[in-house]
Amino acid sequence: MTLLPTIKQLLAMEPIGQEVTIRGWVRTKRETKQSTFIEVNDGSCLSNIQCVVESALLENEALKSMLARIATGASVEIAGKLVPSPAKGQKAEVSVIRVKLIGEAPADRYPLQKKAHSLEFLRELAHLRVRTNTFGAVARVRNRMAFAIHQFFQEHGFYYVHTPIITASDAEGAGAMFQVTTLDLDALAKSGGPVDYDKDFFGKRAYLTVSGQLNVETYCQALSRVYTFGPTFRAENSNTTRHLAEFWMIEPEMAFAELSDNIALATEFIQYLVAVALKDCAEDIAFFDERIQPGLRESLEKVAQTPFAHMTYTDAVRELESANTQFEFKPYWGCDLQSEHEKYLTEKVVGGPVVVTDYPKEIKAFYMKQNEDGKTVAAMDVLVPRFGEIIGGSEREWRLDVLEKRIEELGLSKEVYSWYLDLRRFGSTPHSGFGLGFERLLLYVTGMTNIRDVIPFPRAPRQAEF
Ligand code: 4AD
Ligand code: MG
Repeated sequence: MTLLPTIKQLLAMEPIGQEVTIRGWVRTKRETKQSTFIEVNDGSCLSNIQCVVESALLENEALKSMLARIATGASVEIAGKLVPSPAKGQKAEVSVIRVKLIGEAPADRYPLQKKAHSLEFLRELAHLRVRTNTFGAVARVRNRMAFAIHQFFQEHGFYYVHTPIITASDAEGAGAMFQVTTLDLDALAKSGGPVDYDKDFFGKRAYLTVSGQLNVETYCQALSRVYTFGPTFRAENSNTTRHLAEFWMIEPEMAFAELSDNIALATEFIQYLVAVALKDCAEDIAFFDERIQPGLRESLEKVAQTPFAHMTYTDAVRELESANTQFEFKPYWGCDLQSEHEKYLTEKVVGGPVVVTDYPKEIKAFYMKQNEDGKTVAAMDVLVPRFGEIIGGSEREWRLDVLEKRIEELGLSKEVYSWYLDLRRFGSTPHSGFGLGFERLLLYVTGMTNIRDVIPFPRAPRQAEF
């Protein structure tokens, strides 16, 4: 296969007058007496390449009338010579020989005319917004981070496991679930009769998964180190800047590993990802630093190098109770930490990421390992400035009797979890894992503030167009 070099590749070359062909979308067209300047972007990098049409060429009437139809948003193919650019901030430009208009974008109809549209405006145009600098940069960072996640785990001996999207068990009470059914709801509503799930596709209630964890634990108890990375779904009606109804989650799970191993893995993982972003997405990070979140690069550099702070939930609550701040939710031992609390701990107390451990068992999932005190579990959340929780995880309860007792206490069904309990019946091991919200990671690395802007097509309450 021979593909034309991308603009990114061209801009890395020494411009010595070699003939090149570029294909991309016009960002701007500008005319002076001597020349016409066309800025072209193909998404391979943030930078455009400037194409200069000298006035001598404009004596060609066909070319002139084609140029007149080339406007912002049009797709073009341009051939020319790659030459050093006299303009500031760019090493090379294309001295144009031929121009071909591929797809027009009439200025009176193409919606992306302004230089900087608001993120709100662009959210209504999810199919076009990736043609802007901001969303192009987000897309490239998202791509690099997804790849880096696989690199990190593959380099550390973890196997990638595909866990199911459809599940018959309410995995863990992590959030309200979307039901999956092939029953005819309209007909059911008309009949007014009870729902017979025996007639449904799976012969019982089924849902979209909220987490791949319980499934990935089964592979963990055979392959030792595993991870899953896929879409997860939560039907909470939370219209916030950090919640999606459909988001991607990375969930590693390690056998023969305790909470301290889990904390070490989570810390190393985040630092690795941040370092990759700084190194391989430097141009995009510089853009975010300048336009979206001033100081971003410096704070990421610090995160990549500094060990994460660590405190127990009990100490965290103590800090909050003695804080000189009016919280909307008053903190007390036993409360679930709210995002305002998490922000206070990371921004005011620590000034960076913090790992909070040993939460009360009442506010955490049934599978977390119970501590000796009978009150707390071996949980760990990683909190970061700006939006709080980025990772949630724990050591798992691997003692059969303790886990059975907890399932009973919570009124859950031992039958539903019988396969999960088998993992404790046969060759049980201490094991640990966590979940990293992929879009939360992207908020963190890009400095974007609304989670709907770091996933191509956001799904949130009353939002599922495109
Ligand atoms: O803390 P959570 O609910 O943990 C679990 O699901 C565990 N089963 C993970 C594990 O131990 N394997 O979710 C994990 C992470 C959160 O820390 C957050 O980053 C992200 O998933 N997350 C969301 N991201 C976007 N939108 C939502 N509605 C999210 N809910 C959780
Ligand atoms: Mg959580």
